[in-house]
Amino acid sequence: MSQPNRILIVDDEENVRLMLKAVFSQNGNTILCADNGEQAIELFKHEQPDLVLMDIRMPNMDGIEALQHMHAIYQDIPVILMTAYAAVETAVEALRLGAFDYIIKPFELDEMKLLMARALQLRDMKHEINLLHRELSDSYSHGRILTNNPKMMELCRAIAKVAQSHASVLITGESGTGKELIAKAIHYNSPRAKGQFIKVNCGALPESLLESELFGHEKGAFTGAQIQRQGLFERAHQGTLLLDEVGEMSPHLQVKLLRVLQEREFERVGGNQIIKTDIRIVAATNCDLKSMIERGEFRSDLYYRLNVMHLNSYPLRERPEDILLLARHFLQRFSAENNKDILGLDISAISILEEYKWPGNVRELENAIEHAVIMSTGYIIFSDDLPEHLQRVKNMPSSGVTPITPFEQNVNLKDNLKNYEKSLILQALNNNQNNRVQTAKVLGISLRTLMYKLQEYCIE
Ligand SMILES: Nc1ncnc2c1ncn2[C@@H]1O[C@H](COP(=O)(O)OP(=O)(O)OP(=O)(O)O)[C@@H](O)[C@H]1O
Ligand SMILES: [Mg+2]
Repeated sequence: MSQPNRILIVDDEENVRLMLKAVFSQNGNTILCADNGEQAIELFKHEQPDLVLMDIRMPNMDGIEALQHMHAIYQDIPVILMTAYAAVETAVEALRLGAFDYIIKPFELDEMKLLMARALQLRDMKHEINLLHRELSDSYSHGRILTNNPKMMELCRAIAKVAQSHASVLITGESGTGKELIAKAIHYNSPRAKGQFIKVNCGALPESLLESELFGHEKGAFTGAQIQRQGLFERAHQGTLLLDEVGEMSPHLQVKLLRVLQEREFERVGGNQIIKTDIRIVAATNCDLKSMIERGEFRSDLYYRLNVMHLNSYPLRERPEDILLLARHFLQRFSAENNKDILGLDISAISILEEYKWPGNVRELENAIEHAVIMSTGYIIFSDDLPEHLQRVKNMPSSGVTPITPFEQNVNLKDNLKNYEKSLILQALNNNQNNRVQTAKVLGISLRTLMYKLQEYCIE
């Protein structure tokens, strides 16, 4: 107990309270005292102690009941119960109800100190685990990059390092390769994660609108500017601003952006008050900025300011190992979103996905899987469910009975095998126009076994 703590002592005997208070008020601890259960709950609620020492036997509300109330309010505050020998059974019951431990009166003070130190240690650990869980789930829900490709894994390691710095980042890569996802991963894994992540598409707005969007404007700065407005450089303070399609920015705005990057300050449109901002700028582009510089379309000084760290995302055709990984991820997502129960992809669909060159990269794959999920009427995605332009990629042989790769990684072996068996049966039925005799033959089982399995899996 090196750090000062707030300790709540609950006992109906005044001398016990006074003794414990005298002992534990050293080290700068704050001691709160209550002589009954109700008062203890009030103090617990409003003062949020770090630790509770509570007698079990008290008039009216006893320690066990008070413990249950406290537990319902906040579970992570440890409660140590004190009891006379005769009531040990009750104390065991208290452990079951979530007390940290119990101590039998009269006790050695050293014994109590040890118990308290352990309780506080456990509370700190729980607190840390909660924090880690939250951070983990945040960083996963915002910008989880799935990949099995060595170059992309390298990129993920670079993202983790870049995220810890304050440097500006330039993300390049073809359309749909995950540039925005990378920008989010940087933000949510950085010390700025609690600030805002704001994205602006520099190609989507005319110059004057983009200018006031980024810098904000003063009242009356231009016709229609009836009130003062904060721009994104202000709103993203302590966060991250993604300048998407930065290659589309006009020469005038390129100069103004350069100043923000150099001085970390700017003025609103129509104003002269200097505003300081603390933001991380991430820029993304699918243009070749170097050739734009040679053609005089992009400022080289701005390029070097943005390009302090450079991350490049690879086209999907250069990372074939990611096609099925991502396809299954999107399948799971869209299957759930559409309230469907799709188990996997059949081999004809798989070979189309693997064969296709994906000019629109991951976004195109995402759209293709969403299309297929919507079109699908069964448990498996067949090649016919895919968008038509994909089906033309290859003249697939009829699928036959081919293995379907189940994608559910969290179910146990038995469930997975059942799913697998069910999907094989469905596929065989489909290939044999629902002819059961033929299906049984192809599967190498008796008609009786097939009928039994159809019933077991509720297949009509
Ligand atoms: N490695 C990946 N793991 C999971 N999802 C991904 C991955 N890469 C891309 N995506 C998803 O694909 C879609 C397209 O990605 P994103 O918008 O980041 O691409 P982009 O490069 O910014 O595209 P554009 O140049 O068209 O703006 C998004 O829905 C994104 O979540
Ligand atoms: Mg994008």
